[in-house]
Amino acid sequence: MILGISGSGHKEGESSAAVQAILKASELPSVYVSAADKQINGCTGCLRCVGDNICKVADDWPEIGALMSDADAIVFGAPNYFGMMNAIGHAIWERTYSFRHNSRFTLAGKLGVIVGTNDEAKQSVIPYVRSMMAANKMAVAGEMAVQGSAPCYRCGYGHHCVVGSVVGKHGFLDRIKAEHRPAHFADQCRAKEEAQKLGMVLQGIFG
Ligand SMILES: Cc1cc2nc3c(=O)[nH]c(=O)nc-3n(C[C@H](O)[C@H](O)[C@H](O)COP(=O)(O)O)c2cc1C
Repeated sequence: MILGISGSGHKEGESSAAVQAILKASELPSVYVSAADKQINGCTGCLRCVGDNICKVADDWPEIGALMSDADAIVFGAPNYFGMMNAIGHAIWERTYSFRHNSRFTLAGKLGVIVGTNDEAKQSVIPYVRSMMAANKMAVAGEMAVQGSAPCYRCGYGHHCVVGSVVGKHGFLDRIKAEHRPAHFADQCRAKEEAQKLGMVLQGIFG
């Protein structure tokens, strides 16, 4: 089973679309999880996981953790926020601390595929997730970046807000028109091609 996880708080954003496109292109049995409607806290270091590598914290992570341990490969996508991976994505990987105790690594040998959303993700999300996959003794089968879409394009104030990215890019506008908006994943030819290729890599390995 291939597990796709979007660590974005936005249910239908770019991370979500790219992860699901990779799953679809793999043509393999897959499960997709969005962190958007989940409560996922950081690791508290309570150490209740040390005996059996199972996290006991009562939020939504243990369910995701169980899927991670069942999966043959994990396709993980998350956005860049302020030059780093977003906090929800970070919490998902921080909680894999529960998977590495007493000389055992629950995720050892599984394959990983990484999606980083927006250009800065190449310096933030992608290297960070790569290092977390390595810490879990996983192997990275591939990675890609997808263009992000700033919330300022849909917040309602973006056309005249001086702190937002719309005015930063286009100057003051009477209103935001279609030509100003960044392309969503469905219109990003290069990202779609990358997702197709990564799906085919998974198909070549597990198909
Ligand atoms: C709290 C927050 C911080 C962000 N910081 C940045 C940033 O530093 N640079 C940037 O280019 N985009 C930034 N963004 C825009 C997101 O990267 C963009 O909305 C992306 O599409 C989110 O991923 P998603 O579509 O998968 O939800 C930020 C968005 C939020 C909500």
